[in-house]
Amino acid sequence: MVGTDVHAAAMGEDEIIAREPVLTHASGDPVLTAAGTVGVTPYGYVDEEAREYVVTRPDTPTPWMNYLGEGRYGGIVSNTGGGYSFDCDPRSRRVSRYRYNGVPADQPGRYVYLRDQESDAFWSVTWQPVRRVPDAYECRHGLGYTRIATEHDEIASELLYFVPPGEDAPACELWLLRVQNLGDRPRRLRSFSYVELSYLDAVVDQQNLDWAQHIVSSRFEDGALLTGTLFRADTTFFSSSAAPLGFDSDRETFIGRCGDLRAPVVVERGEPTGSEAPRGNNIGSLCHELELAPGEERRIVYVLGIAADVAEARQTAAAYRDPAAADAAFRALREDWDAYLSRFVVETPDPELNVMVDVWNQVQCRTTLHWSRFASAYETGLGRGMGTRDSAQDTLGTMHAAPERAREMLTRIWRLQFLDGHTWHQFFPLTGEGTSGLAAEMPEWPQWFCDDHLWLVIAVCAYLQETGDVDYLEQRVPYEDGSAETIWEHMMRAVRFTLEHRGPHGLPRAGFADWDDTLNIDHGSGKAESVWCGMQFCRAVLDLAELADELGRTDEAERFRGHVREMADAVNTHAWDGAWYARAFDDEGEPIGVASEELHRINMNPQTWCVIGEVARPERAERALASMHEHLATEFGITLLDPPYNGGSERVRGTSTYPPGAKENGGIFCHANAWAIVAAAMLGKGDLAHDYYRRILPLLRLDSDRYLVEPYVYCQNVCGPTHPQFGLGRNSWLTGTAAWTYVAATQWILGIRPTYRGLRVAPALPEKWSGFRARRLFRGTVYEIDVERVGAGNRVALTVDGAPVDGDVVPPAEGRDRVSVRVQLGGEVAYPSAS
Ligand code: GLC
Repeated sequence: MVGTDVHAAAMGEDEIIAREPVLTHASGDPVLTAAGTVGVTPYGYVDEEAREYVVTRPDTPTPWMNYLGEGRYGGIVSNTGGGYSFDCDPRSRRVSRYRYNGVPADQPGRYVYLRDQESDAFWSVTWQPVRRVPDAYECRHGLGYTRIATEHDEIASELLYFVPPGEDAPACELWLLRVQNLGDRPRRLRSFSYVELSYLDAVVDQQNLDWAQHIVSSRFEDGALLTGTLFRADTTFFSSSAAPLGFDSDRETFIGRCGDLRAPVVVERGEPTGSEAPRGNNIGSLCHELELAPGEERRIVYVLGIAADVAEARQTAAAYRDPAAADAAFRALREDWDAYLSRFVVETPDPELNVMVDVWNQVQCRTTLHWSRFASAYETGLGRGMGTRDSAQDTLGTMHAAPERAREMLTRIWRLQFLDGHTWHQFFPLTGEGTSGLAAEMPEWPQWFCDDHLWLVIAVCAYLQETGDVDYLEQRVPYEDGSAETIWEHMMRAVRFTLEHRGPHGLPRAGFADWDDTLNIDHGSGKAESVWCGMQFCRAVLDLAELADELGRTDEAERFRGHVREMADAVNTHAWDGAWYARAFDDEGEPIGVASEELHRINMNPQTWCVIGEVARPERAERALASMHEHLATEFGITLLDPPYNGGSERVRGTSTYPPGAKENGGIFCHANAWAIVAAAMLGKGDLAHDYYRRILPLLRLDSDRYLVEPYVYCQNVCGPTHPQFGLGRNSWLTGTAAWTYVAATQWILGIRPTYRGLRVAPALPEKWSGFRARRLFRGTVYEIDVERVGAGNRVALTVDGAPVDGDVVPPAEGRDRVSVRVQLGGEVAYPSAS
């Protein structure tokens, strides 16, 4: 395909970054599939070698997105160039516009029109917005970059988008345009870029057109368009490496009266007008003349960014005037990702798992750590900000590769904690301002969520196990409503909050909701309780007990275990329903999620967390999981509850606002499915864990016309069997599914878990697997792990650098760069339980 040729030409031999060879199995058996056989949908495939998802058609069922940037300047980009950009905060520092829910879909974006000055024909490099049928098309979503190539009338063109990496990089994105004449006659073309600029406050930009459209204006200086207001120095700029022939910054002039992006009048006529928008809708359109001899190629680098003032804008524009600077930035981006992904590499007999764990799941985890649930094709970046529970969980997927970032995030969230121990539910990344999220809509109901603060405890323990950085516990961080105390004290207050907010059964009060935002069962009584949160509490406090042991705080460890016993007893005494655990107790003390109910008889989460929280005795754990499987499992994953509500129920409110089978009302919530994988693995059920893993694996959803969303990243929810569109995926990219499936696959199926005492290798593999290999960086040492199945069961026999070691924990490497770990797997294992 010509698009591929364009790509090869674009890279150039010297630009290809060397990769470490992929691991091979000890047996020597080839386990890797040939490139292009994983994730093959009607719309694309995985290129394993390039670590890209290749979209082969522009008309995907929904825009298939990628992310640019690393949590400061960045944005989303679709397979046809659609999307928007922002700096640090998509609400208050929006750079470019996107029309959510617009028709045609997925516009505007980062576009370049090409016009043949002889035939007057024009098209866009990214198919959108002209949507002329190309002779060839290919989009490659890569690691922090997207490359879209098309061919029209013997002209090959390509746009490569990325954000220069690094803490000190300027707040901007680069678009690298290449245009090549593939024919044997000279060609005369013109290019016209297009990006629509937003007023910085994206909400005002949408809501107050009276004001916003009077205050933003643009001017053209030194080859750059500078956009801003009179009362703020912040300047958005758009410039290019080559001096433009002309420009336009007034949208209406560019498009023409009653026009649209498909055929802007300026492109139709082939003449830029030099419009400098004095107000109204501002755009970045630069026009260049491209005269191409046969075979000749031209490059233009466009820079879109935001600066503190005009001087800084000019400086950044100038920094990329030489395309070599853009090439260097791209190389730095590739190196950054190579280093990031090299920290944990696996080879297993499951080719889709390999691609997810080695590449896309990690890409998604890094993205959710940066953007929580704030800015995507589904979350408009206008309102909700970042979630404290969400971000705390997101750290779990990046702990191994970016522990310092995880620590930074956790510290930021601890600042949102109140002296009584609970935290704000949401916050804005730029200002740190906290909010109570959805709860604010119901001021007479509790304004806290019972799980938020407990996730922080779980995440801090995970951080300490990964890094051994126990000094972190001494770091002093202020409270939202009080002066600084140590992280340890913050954790103690979190535990206390739950202990002090218990209901009639001794279980945690539900507050506005627990992990399930839509389960709003406390209508001011102060009595409703979350059974699931009791189980989450046990996990968090068991983690603390283990930490206290490690620190030699034996008394505290005992006290923590006492709390766990008490909570587990309350759960087992009041919430066991005979074949599964109840989900909650309502305002009246009546159970929810029990067999005697007509609707919502069983809920998934307590059946997985009774295992994760080590609350259930083994036979109950087995029974609960089996009940979940029997009542809730489908081919596309496990539904959250059944039977779903069918119309508003005051008892649970939020859940029942969804139709049956959607989201929390009996949909397949992928995030919660990851816990089923963990629970199955904790019970030693490797086959089941792997089965659950594959049910929600996006790379196995080859039925894109039903699934609709990207096959390379997880979506948050899939419509359940009671929904007319069973199997349809929604809300891709920003979901806790990313972190938890990564944890489930690496720590529980493959069983590689960091501990205070070293790296544990305790897999729960499918019986058919002959083993797997992995390479993992842990506290500065590379562990080469080779697991070989020698019999049924998961008992581990460990050899470290040739010497047998008791148990399943590889002791600290003590300064060695590399450690070789051989694991023989076979035999029975006893699984833990608290009660
Ligand atoms: C969304 C929210 C998350 C919540 C989940 C279940 O993903 O971002 O915080 O736990 O829904 O309601």
